[in-house]
Order: sequence, then C-alpha cells, then structure tokens
Amino acid sequence: MTRWNPAGAIAVLTGASSGIGRCIAHRLADRGTTVLAVARRETQLNDTVSSWQANGNGRIVPLVGDVTDLATHVDIKNQLHHLSKDNRLDLLINNAGVGAIGPFAEATPQRLRKVMEVNFFSAAELTRSLLPSLRQSESAVICNIGSVLGHCAVPDKSEYCASKFALHGWSDSLRCELACEGIQVTLVSPSTTRSEFFHSLIETDSSTKSKSLGSWPADRVAAATLDAIIRRKREVLLSTGGKLLVYADRLFPGLMNKVLKRPRYAVKANAN
Ligand SMILES: NC(=O)c1ccc[n+]([C@@H]2O[C@H](COP(=O)([O-])OP(=O)(O)OC[C@H]3O[C@@H](n4cnc5c(N)ncnc54)[C@H](OP(=O)(O)O)[C@@H]3O)[C@@H](O)[C@H]2O)c1
Repeated sequence: MTRWNPAGAIAVLTGASSGIGRCIAHRLADRGTTVLAVARRETQLNDTVSSWQANGNGRIVPLVGDVTDLATHVDIKNQLHHLSKDNRLDLLINNAGVGAIGPFAEATPQRLRKVMEVNFFSAAELTRSLLPSLRQSESAVICNIGSVLGHCAVPDKSEYCASKFALHGWSDSLRCELACEGIQVTLVSPSTTRSEFFHSLIETDSSTKSKSLGSWPADRVAAATLDAIIRRKREVLLSTGGKLLVYADRLFPGLMNKVLKRPRYAVKANAN
C-alpha cells in the first residue's frame, strides 16, 4: 500500500483550537497540507493559526463552529468547495472531544447525551456528509482519535468509555465497508495526554484528578497520529501505560474487573 502524502493534501481537522488538534494542525501544515481547522473558541483557533511558523506550502484555515451543530457540517462543505476546485478531501481527522468524571448513577442524562454527541455522533455524521468529497481523493484517510478507554473501560468515566467504545466499533465497521473504495480508516487511541482536556470536563468537580501511568505531551500524540496516517495503519495504541492497560484487560478480563472494582465503602459514601 502506498503511503499517504501530506504535501498538497486537503484536510479537515476538528478540535483544532488546543491540545492534540493544534499540534496536528501545525505538523500537517509543516508538511504542505491545507488544513481546514474547526473548533468553537475563535480566539484559541486563531492562536492555532498565528502560532504556526509558516514553513513550506501548507496553510491553516480557521472555521469557527460546533461539531454537534449540523450547520457547521454545511459550513465545512462550503469552505471545502473554496479550498479545492474538484471538491476533493484527502484527510478527515475527527479529533474534537470532551470528557466527564464521576459515577454514572449521580450524573444527569445530559452528561451522557453531551459526551456521546461530541465524541461519537458528530464524528459519524460529519464523516457521512464528507464521504462524497473523500471519494474524490485517490488515497483518502479518515482518522478517528479514540482513547485507550475505548478498549478498556474504567469506573467513573462510563460516558466517556461508552463514547470511545462506540467510536472504536464504528471505525472497525467503516474500515471494512470503505476498504474496497481505497479509503483507509485509522483509529488512534492515546492514553493520558497533557492538554486542556482536564480543564473542560463536563459536570465534573473541578478538584477531580485523573489517575494515569505516565502521560504524553500533546505534540508526541500528534507526531504518532501523523505517522499512523502516513503509513495508513488501521489502529495504533499509544503509550506503554495505555498498552499495558488494554492488553491486561484482553488477557485477564476477570482479574481486571476485580482490580478496577470500586471498594464497598466508596459506594456507601456516595449513597449518603
Ligand atoms: N487528553 C487526554 O488525556 C486524552 C486521552 C485520550 C484521548 N484523548 C482524545 O484526544 C482528543 C483531543 O483532546 P485533547 O487532549 O487535545 O483535549 P483539548 O485540548 O481539550 O482539545 C479538545 C478540542 O476539542 C474541541 N471541541 C470540544 N467540543 C467541541 C465541539 N462541540 N465542537 C467543536 N470542537 C469541540 C475543543 O475546541 P473548542 O472548545 O474551542 O470547541 C478543542 O479544540 C479528544 O477526542 C480526546 O477524547 C485525549
């Protein structure tokens, strides 16, 4: 399989105003890609553009919008018409995401809806609406930014795990459906990453901390993502801690359930 070529490519990237998305935008533009960069916060999105040291023929074009709003999908399609005469799209990266921490029983239904809307439904529907443009490319790639928590579920992140498991299952199915058209579906599953993610958790106590076995800087995740896209990989799991978690869960699911089970005193405390 020939490698995906970033030079001269047209990409749509969601969640480009911070963290992993901002770093991916910079790396793609460095390699000569025109990146349509989407996010809600205009100032931060403009920072993504201004903090890029123009280098080569790439370009970052900001588009302010909420990926859960179908009007944003229409705006993306319209903007794509301006960027490529043949309405071609070579790369779609579904990166926008939000998290939430805390027991499912104590959360509102809105928390589940919001996390699923941003992390799963918006990615699926944006992909559906951009498929005609992806079909215009000789070697299109759809890259979904999942999580190791889309392979191994943990307590207190039930909504997030559900959204990333959904993204994982949908990516695997879509990959098989689109393979005959030469469209690659790549699932990148990072572990804990240093970004703004833990400052924008939904309905979560601001003092809540996330446990992890070592975290990666966002730019390292971006580099691994671009490598997976260029090599047209089907799936990559990032970080040693992330791989340990996922492989332990695959090999010893019963033991992992015991290790992850919340102790009885914690359930009693929550009930009070
Ligand atoms: N950080 C981690 O530990 C970690 C681990 C595994 C996987 N991931 C995944 O990596 C991806 C990127 O996260 P990150 O760590 O880089 O966090 P981040 O810095 O918080 O970035 C999240 C991005 O998503 C955008 N976004 C959120 N809701 C949106 C909406 N409704 N419409 C449009 N854009 C939206 C945000 O932009 P606006 O707020 O400006 O809209 C921001 O650009 C996510 O899918 C996340 O689940 C993160």
